[in-house]
Amino acid sequence: MKRSTRLIHNHAGTGPRRTVNPPVERASTVLLADRKALYSQKPGYGRMGLSVHRELEAAMCDLEQATHTYLTPSGLSACAVAAASVVNAGDTLLISDSIYGPSRRFCEKRLKRMGVTCKRFHPRDLKQIETLMDEGAQAVFLEAPGSLTFEVSDTPAIVKLAKARGIKTIMDNTWSAGVFHQPLALGVDISVQALTKYVVGHADAFGGAVMTADRETAREIDDLTEDWGISIGPEEAYSALRGTRTLPTRLAQHEKNAVRIANWLETLEAVDSVIHPALPSHPDHELWKRDFSGSSGLFSFILKGDCDAEIDAFISGLEIFRLGFSWGGFESLLIPCDEQLTRLAKDWTEYRNGRLIRIHVGLEDPEDLVEDLERAFSALADEKNT
Ligand SMILES: Cc1ncc(COP(=O)(O)O)c(C=O)c1O
Repeated sequence: MKRSTRLIHNHAGTGPRRTVNPPVERASTVLLADRKALYSQKPGYGRMGLSVHRELEAAMCDLEQATHTYLTPSGLSACAVAAASVVNAGDTLLISDSIYGPSRRFCEKRLKRMGVTCKRFHPRDLKQIETLMDEGAQAVFLEAPGSLTFEVSDTPAIVKLAKARGIKTIMDNTWSAGVFHQPLALGVDISVQALTKYVVGHADAFGGAVMTADRETAREIDDLTEDWGISIGPEEAYSALRGTRTLPTRLAQHEKNAVRIANWLETLEAVDSVIHPALPSHPDHELWKRDFSGSSGLFSFILKGDCDAEIDAFISGLEIFRLGFSWGGFESLLIPCDEQLTRLAKDWTEYRNGRLIRIHVGLEDPEDLVEDLERAFSALADEKNT
């Protein structure tokens, strides 16, 4: 059976009244039959999750080729759990310069207070990664492609270097939603996703997932989520489970729409460049082709010129694309990436004035989206000519 079929039919349904979805059990208390059951029945308490959680975990394992999935209340908490589960006080964690900003902050500020040293590397610089590994490191945190600037690292090469030195690897796999990329199959130890994005897919719930195919690593994550009391409510877990049913279908449409818009943007005089790994112009296009089976709806482009008023005019010309920090939902969104680009890489600092636009292409008709962007470019041109 193919994965998209399994994601639809993974609920067997039991009992006299069979339903295609599991019941949403809103429970902290689980009633236990006798004294023996008190300490042996699992789950014995709602925080460990109930029917919906088990089905969502199974779906995420299927998507990511994992044996264990741990659910968390948000994508950021999934990143924090993954990072904290592989380091101890005195250890060094290497992070890619383009992992999601708040994940970077967690590693560089919070883990530092817990005695962990954090060092950044450029996602394209294998030599630098190897040198930092040789200086001593216990774990590496990757994201593919990187947030906002969409670099694709050579994951198999990094994994090879890491494995030879007993270093654990983590990958934020939210962009591909597990549909187009399986980091665990490439040897990565832990894959994380913000379920909030494509898995939930409707911009109406938060969730995170931490996945591994290694029993030892699973034990560490299990202990940490238990000690920190990490859990996700049944309604949120249900929203994510429901999203898994249509995830491959939605992603195929996001991909189609985004590639259409990216190709069109590349033809425009007002656009300096389009940063989309599926375009041959992307510096890591060959790595993307090798390690991914498709692309999602999120990419960036850089506008020519550097005038605030022009960017404001561009945004005011939009009727369908809205300003919003999230992505992965049915709706098209964009953000000028101002103050988020606090990067090591000098080549990005010049784009901190908002010319780098991150765009999420939703499920609307792509011709409507092109027309919308045409309105925005025409408003930008009018502003330029004033
Ligand atoms: C790549 C990536 N990882 C993690 C997160 C965090 O997800 P959440 O907002 O659910 O905490 C985000 C949110 O934008 C993200 O873009």
